[in-house]
Amino acid sequence: MESTLSPELAEHLTSAKARIEVATSLDDLRAIERDFTDKGGVIAGLLAAIPTLPPAERRDAGQGANKLKGAVLELLEAARGGLAQAGIDAAREGRGFDPTLPGTEAPRGSLHPVTLVTRELEDIFSSMGYQILDGPEVELDTYNFERLNIPADHPARDMHDTFWCEVSGAERDSDVGILLRTHTSCVQVRAMEKLQPPFRVVAPGRVFRQETLDASHEHTFHQMEGLVVGEGLTVGHLIGTMKTFLREVFRREIEVRLRPGYFPFVEPGFELDARCPFCETEGAGCSVCKQSGWVELCPCGMVHPRVLTLSGIDPEKYTGFAFGLGLSRLVMLRYQIDDIRHLMGGDARFLSQF
Ligand code: DAH
Repeated sequence: MESTLSPELAEHLTSAKARIEVATSLDDLRAIERDFTDKGGVIAGLLAAIPTLPPAERRDAGQGANKLKGAVLELLEAARGGLAQAGIDAAREGRGFDPTLPGTEAPRGSLHPVTLVTRELEDIFSSMGYQILDGPEVELDTYNFERLNIPADHPARDMHDTFWCEVSGAERDSDVGILLRTHTSCVQVRAMEKLQPPFRVVAPGRVFRQETLDASHEHTFHQMEGLVVGEGLTVGHLIGTMKTFLREVFRREIEVRLRPGYFPFVEPGFELDARCPFCETEGAGCSVCKQSGWVELCPCGMVHPRVLTLSGIDPEKYTGFAFGLGLSRLVMLRYQIDDIRHLMGGDARFLSQF
C-alpha cells in the first residue's frame, strides 16, 4: 500500500504506524483515529486541499487520501485485536485483567433452514394429534418399494434413480435390495407395522436420488411424509387436513385444488396445489408461482387397499390418506431460495443468514 502512496501520504502513514505501535490502551487508539479521520483531521485536510491542486492531479490526490484512510483504519483494527488478545493473555497468566478491553466474540452457530421449517411443521402436526416418526436412511427394498405396491420392474421405479448399497458377492446390488431411501414414504410401512389404527403420523427426513444436479435437483433432499389410518376416512379429511396445515403455516385461509396424480401406493392419487401465498393480489401471478397463481404443494391420495393389506391392515375396516410434503421445496418457498444446492452445500456464508 505504502509503495503506491505519494511521499507526503507515506509520511503520514509512517507517523500513524509509529503512534499505533506505542499505544497501550483503547483510548490511545481512539485518539489516533480521531486525529486522522475526524473533521479537521489529517484526511479531511488532504481532501480540502484538492480543489487547490492542478486538475490533472486531483483524482490521484483523492484516491491517495482514501487509501491512506483505509490503511490507517486497518492498522487501528489490528492493534485493537492485539490489545484484546494481550488482555486475555494477561488474565490467563494471572497478570490481572483489563475489563475495558473489548472482548473477542465467539463465533455463533445457527439452525439450518431445513431444521427450522421441520421444527415448525412438527409443531403444527403435533398440535393436530400426529406422532412424529423416524425411519432409517439406509432402507430395504421391501419398505421403500415392494410394500408400497411398487414391485420389481414396476415402471414407477424409473422415477426413483436409486443409490443401491454395494454388497460383496452379489451379481447386481439391487438383487440384495439395500438402498438409500428414495422417499420418506417407506416410513408409512414402518408405521403400519408398528402401530394399531387409528393413528396419525408424520415422518420428516433425508432422502437420496441419483439426480443430475441443477438449481432444482439435488442428490440429497428432505421430505415429510404424512399418513393417517382410521375408520371412515375420505378425501374430505385429506383436504381438510391440508387446509388446516396451510392456515397454520401462513396464518390465513389458503385455497387449495386437487389434480389427478399417479402414485402406486395411493388410489385415487392427487397433486395438491395451493393458491400462491406470495402474489400480492391473490392469483395475479408472481415469479414464485411462475405467473400461474398456484404452487404445487404436495402429492397425496387415499392409501391403496393393497398397501394396507401388505402391512396387515384390513382395508374393509380401515381407510387412510397419505401425503408427501417436499420439505426442501417448502424451505425454498419460505425463504425465497432459488437454488436447491445451497441447502446441502455447507457454505457458512449462506447458513449464517438464518
Ligand atoms: N413418495 C412420493 C415421491 O417422493 C411422494 C408421495 C406421493 C407421497 C403421494 C405420498 C403420496 O404420501 O400419497 O415421489
